[in-house]
Amino acid sequence: MSPIERVIKKKETNINPIWIMRQAGRYLPEFREIRKKNTDFIKLCLNENLASEISLQPLKRYDLDAAIIFSDILMIPFGLNQRVEFKKNFGPLLGEINLNEISKLNEVDFVKNIQPVYDAIKLVSNNNLTKNKSTIGFVGAPWTLLVYMINKKSPKLKLVDNFFNDDLLLDNILKVLDKFLKVHIKNQVDSGAEIIQVFDSWAGLLESENLSKYIYNPTLTLVEYIKSLNVPVICFPRGIKDYENYCEIIKPDVICIDYDVDPIQIEKKIKIPIQGGMSPKILLTDKETLKKETKKYLDIFKDHPYIFNLGHGVLPETDPNMMDYLVKMVKNY
Ligand code: CP3
Repeated sequence: MSPIERVIKKKETNINPIWIMRQAGRYLPEFREIRKKNTDFIKLCLNENLASEISLQPLKRYDLDAAIIFSDILMIPFGLNQRVEFKKNFGPLLGEINLNEISKLNEVDFVKNIQPVYDAIKLVSNNNLTKNKSTIGFVGAPWTLLVYMINKKSPKLKLVDNFFNDDLLLDNILKVLDKFLKVHIKNQVDSGAEIIQVFDSWAGLLESENLSKYIYNPTLTLVEYIKSLNVPVICFPRGIKDYENYCEIIKPDVICIDYDVDPIQIEKKIKIPIQGGMSPKILLTDKETLKKETKKYLDIFKDHPYIFNLGHGVLPETDPNMMDYLVKMVKNY
């Protein structure tokens, strides 16, 4: 059993497994090299050889306990034939939704659109570098995908004004997402993904009266589906105000916390394994600060099943030497 699985399944507290959200890509020069020659990000995700190579790059440098597949949460709208582009210095830009078309789309055509993602998972999980380590697959949570599909770009601080105007459209997209998220998860698991992480990056944008409809209900169905496949599920509802309530309702195997969460409070309140927390900005400071902050998280969670990670993705401007220092420190603590 890999160290991450030992924490999740056996609730071990004497080991400190570590992986980092967004570890594949962005800050690594060897990724930038590949990225420079492959200007179309979606095409890069659909090149199984390059996608698996990028997924393995961080494991070549650091003693991480997991590989996360180089892909994107927006491969779902792409698979549904919504236009998805990544514009330099802007982020994702999506096209109009054709509800009629996405409702008619069948499973076979969806899988055909993104088959290389599954081929990349096979290559990663069969590679020697992931021996005794976990291969992590992932999806965007229904709410976060709905945000991108309707908003058509990152919301930053707020949604477009008419976001909630068309109830029927929202309900229908949620239905389509429920179906194809399950297809996407099943295919990842069948290809070798041993853990699924659900990214709800925009959970913090919702008022509490809307949480049941857009987060709790659709995420619960998904989490129960993942559990039915006998695969552990990590949920990351970034920015949600009440993590405790979220865990009581959703019951994930692991809860990933963001950098605004007070680790001392959450350690007391939540009994399930916890992942993450430390701000990615700490990696932009100096080794002394990094050591102090890392030690803080490791000490707070020393008697709690804990997977070291950050409280959001690693920032592109991170120095790879700081990552090296972090991984070594966690593994030798
Ligand atoms: O974690 C990993 O290393 C695996 C790969 C991964 C990517 N995206 C690759 C990527 C994962 C797990 C994601 C998840 C993802 N994608 C999320 C959820 C996590 C989060 O950060 O909140 C979201 C919201 C997206 C959507 C997305 N994709 C945005 C907003 C952007 C542009 C800005 C950015 O974050 O870089 C992307 C592009 C993207 N996805 C890049 C990478 C490596 C950068 C592409 C580039 O080189 O231009």
